Amino acid sequence: MPRRIIEPFKIKTVEPIRMTSRAEREAILEAAGYNLFLVHAEDVLIDLLTDSGTSAMSAEQWAGMMRGDESYACSRSWYRFRDTVRSIFGFEQVIPTHQGRAAERILFSVLCEPGDVVPNNTHFDTTRANIEFRGAEARDLPIPEALVPSQLHPFKGNLDVERLAALIDEVGAERIPLVMITVTNNSGGGQPVSLANIRAVKQLIAPLGIPLYLDACRFAENAWFIKQREPGYADTSVRAIAAEMFALADGCTMSAKKDGLANIGGFLCTNDPNLARQEQDLLILTEGFPTYGGLAGRDLEAIAIGLEEVLDEDYLAYRAASTRYLGERLTESGVPIIQPPGGHAIYIDAKAMLPQIAPLELPGQALCAELYLEAGIRGVEIGTLMFGHDDPETGEPLPAAMELVRLAIPRRVYTKSHIDYVAEACAEVYARREAIRGLRLTYAAPFLRHFTARLAPI
Ligand code: F0G
Repeated sequence: MPRRIIEPFKIKTVEPIRMTSRAEREAILEAAGYNLFLVHAEDVLIDLLTDSGTSAMSAEQWAGMMRGDESYACSRSWYRFRDTVRSIFGFEQVIPTHQGRAAERILFSVLCEPGDVVPNNTHFDTTRANIEFRGAEARDLPIPEALVPSQLHPFKGNLDVERLAALIDEVGAERIPLVMITVTNNSGGGQPVSLANIRAVKQLIAPLGIPLYLDACRFAENAWFIKQREPGYADTSVRAIAAEMFALADGCTMSAKKDGLANIGGFLCTNDPNLARQEQDLLILTEGFPTYGGLAGRDLEAIAIGLEEVLDEDYLAYRAASTRYLGERLTESGVPIIQPPGGHAIYIDAKAMLPQIAPLELPGQALCAELYLEAGIRGVEIGTLMFGHDDPETGEPLPAAMELVRLAIPRRVYTKSHIDYVAEACAEVYARREAIRGLRLTYAAPFLRHFTARLAPI
């Protein structure tokens, strides 16, 4: 019988987490206007708000922090960082940034003109915002299966190649400065993209002179899924699969806060030295000199080590197993989730779970509030609070396409009993789901309203 998959590490440093009573949580939630972004982290027991910047670093990474060379120019840590990125990602030009969105801003500032269209399987919200800030349009082209939460598909993150071809015919190749593929597709449920799909996109756009970029935040998790699911790759190392993914691309943006196993950092890559020069000019304006780009030398060390550690296949087996385990436990309890479980998070389908709450009464946010009240768990709504907007013609509020609650799992942070606790709490909330009521907005900022909104029960 195969042995159970265990955490491939032991714990050297611990950080206490604090239990609260239900009465305390009721007061805390009310004071925070039912917005979990406004709850103090100290008042959260299990924090599944994001997997970004929340990883536990290894002993080796902490040792690397001490070895960080803080020289302004051409530090030893920079060369280690650059050489590690080159060896894994295969790109010649490496531009360090303080996090992923800084890489996005620089890339789109150089490549996009007003009126351009940038396709992606699904843009992450900062990616979309940076494209729109340039006056260009961000167009999501997921495969149809991606929009049906219960539907199984091994590569539900794939980009719809037929729709991409139709878009190119519609707007013309000259208005498409690049195509992006997000691996794994975060906004679409943490779902992987196949090598066959990346190859098909490349074959379509390369003859037209359109470059392909990967949004590489969770590249190792994506490569792991390819090894498990794509015919012909079972015996290929994750490192070699990653190399094959990036060899098909002309560049990438990366947030090292995810598969860099670091608490801060990012980078932008290309093989084009002229493009890199323009990007470095912008980098100097806001991020820093090209050999540190908004990061301390110690951060560059921690990322270089994290990028090697994330390719460890025992780690990736544990990572995928722990996310899948939470998904399976929720499914056994009846909780509807996006199937199959993705790499970094489980997405509860709040629309299916709470049909009595109309989308404009924010079922996802209501579920987030219940999970916090029940057990001190913090998830994030990805639904009408985050993506709802007013109809530009009638001014009527419009709901989002899906009402999801993301439970993102920080890397190497929580143990199996923490995950069991989360599964039990979700099952308890599910058992009394019919009594859950919606929320109404009492304050909303004009954009990115989910961060600061205040709400009250209906
Ligand atoms: N691209 C993807 C797919 C992301 O998930 C994120 C961040 C970014 C880009 C931006 O990177 O935060 O370093 O600037 N996602 C986090 C999340 C915030 O919670 O999913 P960043």
